[in-house]
Amino acid sequence: MAISIRLLKDNEYSEMLKLMCRVFPNSNIKIDHGDRIIIADMYGQIVGFVHYAYYGDKAVIKGFGVEGNVRGIGIGTGLIESVIKKFVSVGKPVYLKVKDTNPANNIYARFGFVLARHNEAKGVYLLVRRANN
Ligand SMILES: CC(C)(COP(=O)(O)OP(=O)(O)OC[C@H]1O[C@@H](n2cnc3c(N)ncnc32)[C@H](O)[C@@H]1OP(=O)(O)O)[C@@H](O)C(=O)NCCC(=O)NCCS
Repeated sequence: MAISIRLLKDNEYSEMLKLMCRVFPNSNIKIDHGDRIIIADMYGQIVGFVHYAYYGDKAVIKGFGVEGNVRGIGIGTGLIESVIKKFVSVGKPVYLKVKDTNPANNIYARFGFVLARHNEAKGVYLLVRRANN
């Protein structure tokens, strides 16, 4: 299948934003100046994204999603693999928040993320993948 994982181009911003809204219909999506986005392009359409940023000596994954009808075929894994290579190359740990019941936790565990904090009241994990993993 023709899937490429690459940086978002300026002229693809609105297409990508629509995908983010489909994946997270109940979230207030906010992209700040300086944030970075890697996308999965399948036959010329954006079908996945990972949205991240650097804050001093750490990185944060702010959003990660794949179009509903193409989940389960490895696109999410490809996106996470690609973004982790970047964090490793700059030697920074990466943090993210995820619901403790989310199946995405399988991907994060596979890539070496570990629990930094569990907010049991909200059902949210703060995960970290350390730079020297
Ligand atoms: C999480 C997500 C990005 C994974 O993308 P994907 O392309 O389906 O990922 P992969 O095909 O590489 O599958 C990896 C894991 O995702 C889970 N998964 C697979 N198919 C899935 C599906 N149809 N629906 C939900 N999760 C699925 C599985 O747990 C799989 O782990 P496993 O291989 O150990 O079983 C995608 O399911 C998604 O967009 N979910 C909604 C948004 C979300 O929850 N994002 C993460 C917020 S922190």
